[in-house]
Amino acid sequence: FHVPKAVNEPVKSYAPNSPERAAVDAAYAAMWNSKIDVPLYIGNQEVRTGDTKTMSAPHDHKHIVGTYHQAQKSHIEDAIATALQAKTAWANMAWEQRAGIFLKAAELLAGPYRAKINAATMIAQSKTIYQAEIDASCELIDFLRFNVQYMTQIYSEQPKSTSDMWNRVEYRPLEGFVYAITPFNFTAIAGNLPTSAALMGNVVVWKPAATQVYSANLLMQIFKEAGLPNGVINMVMGDSGMITETLLASPDFAGVHFTGSTGVFNDIWAKIGTNISKYKTYPRIVGETGGKDFIIAHPSANSKQVSTGIARGAFEYQGQKCSAASRVYVPQSLWPAVKSELEADLKSMKMGSPEDMSNFITAVISETSFDKLARFIDQAKKDADAEVIIGGNYDKSKGYFIEPTVILTTNPKYTTMETELFGPVVTIYVYEDAKWHETLKLVDTTSEYALTGAVFSQDRYAIEEATIALQNAAGNFYINDKPTGAVVGMQPFGGARGSGTNDKAGSMQNLLRWTSARTIKETF
Ligand code: SER
Repeated sequence: FHVPKAVNEPVKSYAPNSPERAAVDAAYAAMWNSKIDVPLYIGNQEVRTGDTKTMSAPHDHKHIVGTYHQAQKSHIEDAIATALQAKTAWANMAWEQRAGIFLKAAELLAGPYRAKINAATMIAQSKTIYQAEIDASCELIDFLRFNVQYMTQIYSEQPKSTSDMWNRVEYRPLEGFVYAITPFNFTAIAGNLPTSAALMGNVVVWKPAATQVYSANLLMQIFKEAGLPNGVINMVMGDSGMITETLLASPDFAGVHFTGSTGVFNDIWAKIGTNISKYKTYPRIVGETGGKDFIIAHPSANSKQVSTGIARGAFEYQGQKCSAASRVYVPQSLWPAVKSELEADLKSMKMGSPEDMSNFITAVISETSFDKLARFIDQAKKDADAEVIIGGNYDKSKGYFIEPTVILTTNPKYTTMETELFGPVVTIYVYEDAKWHETLKLVDTTSEYALTGAVFSQDRYAIEEATIALQNAAGNFYINDKPTGAVVGMQPFGGARGSGTNDKAGSMQNLLRWTSARTIKETF
């Protein structure tokens, strides 16, 4: 099969006075000063139910940027029926046509829509321009391009035949529809979960996170402009419980592609179990869930690499990446150097609104998240076995701003070493150098999650020890680098244990989950 070889989209710099910065500034200002009204997208219908919610920017929560419409149960039933109607034509469309649609979407994102999708992500999810660029532009473009390449690799994987017998495998889509549930923190994930299932010939009902609807709306418009037929991806918002309940009750439910919290994923899994005898086929369950991602430094580590790994791994995008470092183990001998370098690093990080592109930290996503983080910070200020050594201030008067905060604990099982916080708070435990092996064990056993983790060391033997001791503790394991920022085509992303089914995002393995293969033997 011949398709364009997938290449990673280069990250633009957005330097002062660059044309790309001017374009984002203009897009941001235009969006900021107008309001959008986001409908449900069901087939060719833009459904305005009249039951609306407002959308605001987390860094200026009184500033309303639009409204979105919420579905009733009947709308969700319509979305299922509409998806199923679109199914036959879509599943039977030549794969080259499906591929062309998503390659075109990638080029629309890379070119005419780049400034807009970045600005939408900056406004709705409070990302800095750099974080928006590596997410909404580069990562999503990469997902679309690489998935097309992986699809052709899957289709070309064929069994042995002989001169009088032709064996072939058809990678059919699932029988029914796929339910995609996406989180607020990556526009790329919001784009990838519905499109990866759709690329393989499936029809999708997609529920974006309430706090991401603003940029999800633009994605829907881009998919349509790229030529996606009506009804292939249907976007619905509203009461999550009702939407999930309705979709999982359908006999045509064939799979869920999920990124979000472990608790919600467990509930979905249980509901699927309860409904199992209703379904025409065993549904695919693919999910990426929580994390409590670690950094462990060996005494041989370079202290500057460690402090940079913490500063960037824990605080980029306010620590709201599922991959963000949130528990750190530093040996006593290295701690004074790591601490002073980290203090200097964090002091230089400016906090404020994303339209000022010199800011490194902006607001956390919501008041709920802000209040939860503030509670943990206040508790650490009181607890005898913890101390807030950097940051610890917060203010929600204008936006949900929390300073990059470092908690030092003498208790390796302190609550913030174990609990997923999803914000700009990292907890550090200083271990005795001689206790390297015990500490590896602690890293492995302290958390129920296994998404990402990093070891820093200049000693190859120690690296090997950590790689073996932590083989089940992280689906993405980094050696001498921060545990965030996986690149499509380079580091397939996903974790196990409480972090998900580990069907790496942007991989052949993931795409295979959206197929139900038919083997055909023909004799002559
Ligand atoms: N893929 C992202 C990262 O690696 C997290 O979802 O940071």
